[in-house]
Amino acid sequence: MKNIVLIGFMGVGKGTLARAMAGKTDIYAIDTDDLIESLTNMKIKKIFKKKGEEYFRKLEQKTADWLASSVQNSIISTGGGFYKVKNLKSIGTIVYLQADFDWIYERITKSKNAKKKIKKRPLFKSYKDAKKLYEQRVPEYKSVADIIINVEDKNIDELIEEITSKI
Ligand code: S3P
Repeated sequence: MKNIVLIGFMGVGKGTLARAMAGKTDIYAIDTDDLIESLTNMKIKKIFKKKGEEYFRKLEQKTADWLASSVQNSIISTGGGFYKVKNLKSIGTIVYLQADFDWIYERITKSKNAKKKIKKRPLFKSYKDAKKLYEQRVPEYKSVADIIINVEDKNIDELIEEITSKI
């Protein structure tokens, strides 16, 4: 099976959906941030702090190269900026998970472990900065997507069904 690549802004629920879909089907869930953390033995937050964003983006490219050459039959959740890698389309079918910024902001900040979720995301510093980044990225997410799915007010089963029917 061709991989499914979930792209979209921080906190939209890419990882949750990938894991749920893997649990209900015969495919693997893979997360690009997890791959980078295991490659470097460092947390994303620490990579940003010690090595900077540019270095992190190089690791994303390295991860993309490996995924494109070596991985099949998987649903891949990606970091919010991963869509910029050169060979995105060669990894699989690109599914953009879309939601309004305020919905995403609430999902992160009103969750049980909000502090942890914000802390581990170096680019989610303030409402204003995160919203600016969101607005810059939305047209780019749309332009690379094969499929766009609005995730607001849908449960996991509905989302899995929608993805499966559109692919
Ligand atoms: C980033 C999103 C993060 C993580 C890193 C950079 C981004 O992943 O890759 O902090 O540039 O939007 P999530 O989308 O899972 O939060």
